[in-house]
Amino acid sequence: MNRFDGKIAMVTGASSGIGQAVAMRLAHEGATVLCLDVAAAALQATVDQIRADGGHASSLLCDVSNISQVKNVFSHCLAQYGKLDVLVNSAGVIRLDHATNITDETWQKIINVNLTGTFFMCREAIPHLVASKGNIVNISSTSAIRGLPYGIAYAASKGGVSALTKSIAVEYARQGIRANTVCPGSIDTNMQKESGLPKDIDWQLIPRIASINGHVGKPSDVASLVALLASEQDGSHINGAEYIVDGGTTV
Ligand SMILES: NC(=O)c1ccc[n+]([C@@H]2O[C@H](COP(=O)([O-])OP(=O)(O)OC[C@H]3O[C@@H](n4cnc5c(N)ncnc54)[C@H](O)[C@@H]3O)[C@@H](O)[C@H]2O)c1
Repeated sequence: MNRFDGKIAMVTGASSGIGQAVAMRLAHEGATVLCLDVAAAALQATVDQIRADGGHASSLLCDVSNISQVKNVFSHCLAQYGKLDVLVNSAGVIRLDHATNITDETWQKIINVNLTGTFFMCREAIPHLVASKGNIVNISSTSAIRGLPYGIAYAASKGGVSALTKSIAVEYARQGIRANTVCPGSIDTNMQKESGLPKDIDWQLIPRIASINGHVGKPSDVASLVALLASEQDGSHINGAEYIVDGGTTV
């Protein structure tokens, strides 16, 4: 018996990095996974990999910051699978720059995708999760806990993700929903490679970004914890928690 046999899971940001690793892990453990992202070719590649591994998955293009696309995903999920057991929000964007250089547009984009997108997904999912006694795992960041030099908008968006997840946890605990947050530190993904740093940085701040143990984490390091939290078997009494996966950097 696998931990997610018979479960329907939805994963945003499933084309790449942490979201992809989570989708693959949940499917490997028996879930049928509806993979969501804006990057079409890579999304299909995730589904192909899951199927090659013997798992079950399908995909839909969905910009999580677009409410009509989000609503469409839930209509599709219910029509196709009849329920939703697990929602993992991993879709995210980052832009690093000096706080004074962050434009209105950059601020809005990061808040729209990371925070409002997570809110849209959670809001639409909650009635279905009440029905299934399901749960949510939101991917926040250690920047929500300790700030991020050159990441003012990103850290603010992740602070919001952590807070909204705890709010869902307390508001819906008595209706059987659990909601937990995972805060990764430095993880080896496209976001990590492409985030870049602005010119004229203060190098003394960089140890706050780099992993203390000398290497970046793997997406699968995060996926293992997400699977534990999302599992009824192992996570049933874990609710409103915020778990750090950063090799000890934040401590
Ligand atoms: N990599 C890290 O070091 C790190 C650290 C802490 C937190 N995180 C968080 O982990 C999550 C996953 O990031 P990752 O590192 O795997 O990055 P990634 O770039 O590999 O994956 C992010 C995915 O989100 C998708 N996406 C972007 N905008 C979207 C939108 N509007 N709608 C739907 N999908 C969208 C991208 O296409 C991509 O596939 C993010 O929320 C990120 O903030 C990452």
